[in-house]
Amino acid sequence: MPKESRLDPWGRDQIEDYGQLIRDFGIEPFGPLLARVPRPMRLMARSIIFGHRDYGRVLEAVAARRPFGVISGFMPSGRAHLGAKMVMEEIVWHQKMGGDATVAVADMEAHAVRNISWERCREWGIREYVLSLIALGLEPDRAKVYFQSENRQVQDLAFRLAKEANHSELKAIYGFSGETTLAHMLCPAVQAADILAPPLDEKLGGSRPLVVPVGVDQDPHIRLTRDLAARVSGFDVEERKGHIVVRPRRGDVDLRPGSYVERLNSLRGVKTKNYRSHVEVTGATFPQVEQIIGDHIRAHPELGHYQLVPPASLYHRFMSGLTGGKMSSSIPESHIALSEPPAEAEVKVLKAKTGGRATEREQREKGGEPEKCAVYELMQYNLGDDAWLEDMYKQCRAGTRLCGECKSRAAEQMKAILKDHQERREEAEGRLDEFGLKI
Ligand code: TRP
Ligand code: SF4
Repeated sequence: MPKESRLDPWGRDQIEDYGQLIRDFGIEPFGPLLARVPRPMRLMARSIIFGHRDYGRVLEAVAARRPFGVISGFMPSGRAHLGAKMVMEEIVWHQKMGGDATVAVADMEAHAVRNISWERCREWGIREYVLSLIALGLEPDRAKVYFQSENRQVQDLAFRLAKEANHSELKAIYGFSGETTLAHMLCPAVQAADILAPPLDEKLGGSRPLVVPVGVDQDPHIRLTRDLAARVSGFDVEERKGHIVVRPRRGDVDLRPGSYVERLNSLRGVKTKNYRSHVEVTGATFPQVEQIIGDHIRAHPELGHYQLVPPASLYHRFMSGLTGGKMSSSIPESHIALSEPPAEAEVKVLKAKTGGRATEREQREKGGEPEKCAVYELMQYNLGDDAWLEDMYKQCRAGTRLCGECKSRAAEQMKAILKDHQERREEAEGRLDEFGLKI
């Protein structure tokens, strides 16, 4: 694999070719799943969510009204901007679809990697992220919001997972060097624990499919997490054509094979066949088998194993910066922060890079280039309904719409959205205690 195509969760690179990510990393394209999503969210309908791993399993749970969950996290290392808003909307959407929601405030990561003090982490975590999440519709019922530094269960699981990965592997995935601190190297294990802990929490629903919506730069974490889940699990459960294979990963797991094989056999229409190293199951669904195997593992804590389902993931494209280039929290003109004064955001949109032509005449003749326009992107990610957006696109292409007018309309709408969002943020302050948090 060429070195350029390594994804760096802490890097500043811009992604040029999303299709290449699908080819290089085995990310699945999202398009073919769209028809199976009941009432798809804007980011799905507009192909901003472009890829996934295993999301089909989550959709199955949604369709069958079985429990499922969504988990994601935010590094409190600055102001939350429109990029973070996408993840927030994805979390809220999944909760509205019937899932439970877990949100990690990644203060350990912000402290270790960005050197943000614990006080700042606390303040930004609540002010910038949690308040906006609540403003966007996160409900306390079926939700858990926590700071990594305060979650002992996550820390313990992180330590257990860290036992399964050595330096060579981390170096290959993340490009860690001799300068990388030990705290930084622990972050992938803590993030993996954020993702793998919710199914261990019986209060939130126990074993169930989980989806992690993130920017695609986080895919290395997802791949590692999926691997680690398998490495600490007592059994490999694999779906093959027409049957499911259950294979104990270690000899000691098989001390009481009867209990789970018998339980499988007691399901109507299910047959099992014992082989020396595995059991073949026919007539059962994957979630059924996983449930039974998971129960078996939980019933025997003395074996010291977990049974963790590899998480699904959902990847969205990054919004480009308003000034062109990457949207970055360290370049104020490049982004719109959720807590910034609406009038300032308006000015940023008015100054944004467009896909307009050099002269009005040229634009009327040739039309604009929405593909190269930060304002069009802003509309695509944030504004209007699908028919309206298509209309904007056509008018731009046809040259019947000029950039000045187009920008001021978009700026106006963005200002209104922020104003409304900030009113909701203020109301959210009074609701923090419902999430067990305070400022
Ligand atoms: N590393 C993520 C970021 O930089 C934050 C994060 C922490 C996270 N834990 C997570 C994301 C769990 C998804 C799931 O934004
Ligand atoms: Fe962008 Fe609007 Fe200009 Fe088209 S008309 S290039 S969408 S600002």
